[in-house]
Amino acid sequence: MALALVCTHAGYYPLEITANGFFCPLHGSSFSKSGGVTGGIAPTSLRRFATTYNGSAGTVTINRPA
Ligand code: FES
Repeated sequence: MALALVCTHAGYYPLEITANGFFCPLHGSSFSKSGGVTGGIAPTSLRRFATTYNGSAGTVTINRPA
């Protein structure tokens, strides 16, 4: 899974990476490592994208919708 490090409150980016997940310094929202809201005024979880790992090529592909 990949996460968009864009705050779901007012679009601040990039969110800061913390020991427990992510933090938005603009108004203080926080998010878990899986993107769920853990504090502050952000209304929804971070946007998530499925990923595919290719072990032989050593690549990760982020499957973003068009
Ligand atoms: S923009 Fe992140 S909490 Fe407001």
